[in-house]
Amino acid sequence: MIYRRSRSFANSLDKKDGLSKYRDQFNYPKDNNGKDLIYFCGNSLGLQPKTASGYLSKELSVWAEKGVQGQEDRWVAFHERLAGSTAKLVGASNEEVVVMNALTVNIHLLLVSFYQPNERKYKVMIEKDAFPSDHYAIQSQIQFHGYDPKLSLIELAPRKDEKVLRHEDIISAIEEYGEELALIYIGGVNYYTGQAFDLESITKAGRDKKAVVGFNLAHSVGNLPLRLHDWDIDFSAWCTYKYLCAGPGSPSGVFIHERHHNWDGPRFLGWWGHNKNSRFDMPSTFDPILTSEGWQISNAPVMGMAPLLASMNIYDEVGMRAIRNKGKELASYMEYLLKECITAVNIITPEARGCQLSLVVPGGKDVFDHITDQGVICDWRNPDVIRVAPHPLFNTFAEVFDFVNILKKAIV
Ligand SMILES: Cc1ncc(COP(=O)(O)O)c(C=O)c1O
Repeated sequence: MIYRRSRSFANSLDKKDGLSKYRDQFNYPKDNNGKDLIYFCGNSLGLQPKTASGYLSKELSVWAEKGVQGQEDRWVAFHERLAGSTAKLVGASNEEVVVMNALTVNIHLLLVSFYQPNERKYKVMIEKDAFPSDHYAIQSQIQFHGYDPKLSLIELAPRKDEKVLRHEDIISAIEEYGEELALIYIGGVNYYTGQAFDLESITKAGRDKKAVVGFNLAHSVGNLPLRLHDWDIDFSAWCTYKYLCAGPGSPSGVFIHERHHNWDGPRFLGWWGHNKNSRFDMPSTFDPILTSEGWQISNAPVMGMAPLLASMNIYDEVGMRAIRNKGKELASYMEYLLKECITAVNIITPEARGCQLSLVVPGGKDVFDHITDQGVICDWRNPDVIRVAPHPLFNTFAEVFDFVNILKKAIV
């Protein structure tokens, strides 16, 4: 598309936008004068669907009216209501996904099963700039098995003077370290740079070397279309409070490829992973559910899942194709305007991306503080990046235009 740098052109994009009506389905934060802020933080905490409170109050009412009877009638299978839409979103079967716990907790539970080092194959490949919680989880798992993280981590770093990884460097590192590689564990989209990785070919390269391949999809789910089953990925986990708009601390999603479902390897057990037909007979011998649900430990956090049900209904209705198309356009239009209007901005996010752009600007944190005062909600990540992520379901092209103007004034 040929873009123009005018507010009227941005308005015309909004007029043509088939998703524009969804903005009204979210509670939009306002400044002290009641004016909408420019909320570009969908990669951190998505906005609240207006339907969320109804979903939550429904469960509160059932609890108030029925007490424990709500459990039997309703909550015992509550997480199952999320399976269909979650599976659709990540390209999996209903049996391959489950929503449970929080993200880093799930990463640990998955690593207990899928990181099984031995003296020959014990190394883990991770991005050097992965989210800290991923580093901590991986390092502690390596130590848990009696290995030294310093000798066991293969950290993928950009080349000198470059900001993002080259795909060919990832593949050649897998080739180089393949014999010692037990696990590849990287983010689908890097939280800092916004770079999206080619999950399918990384998985193929890793599996050819007999490494297990898992991804943290915190910044991918709800942002990019995914086909986790077809891409043959072993496992992944993600949070639902970012693009999926399920609220702070909402439960995490997990994918485990069906080839692992008849699992007899290591796994931490709890009663919610036990065969549903005999769970309430209270047996002391574990009989696993032969799906991803077998990795569940505790009963479902219903109050956290209720808002997720609300937002998944919106995702179901809109579909990932339309969401991705709009996300791509929002990011492209922002890139165009930044390049046209502010030459001093360095966009470090490559073309392989979702809807986040990571910007390095002269004035750094001072500029970030200034645009925050001007009503732009995005975030600053040390050492030098402003992350900006317009969300396809509630942001407009006009906001992108206004943001670039605010940023321009803050830099000059
Ligand atoms: C890539 C990534 N991994 C892990 C986490 C940690 O998530 P949680 O606090 O839900 O465990 C986050 C949170 O933002 C994240 O972005």
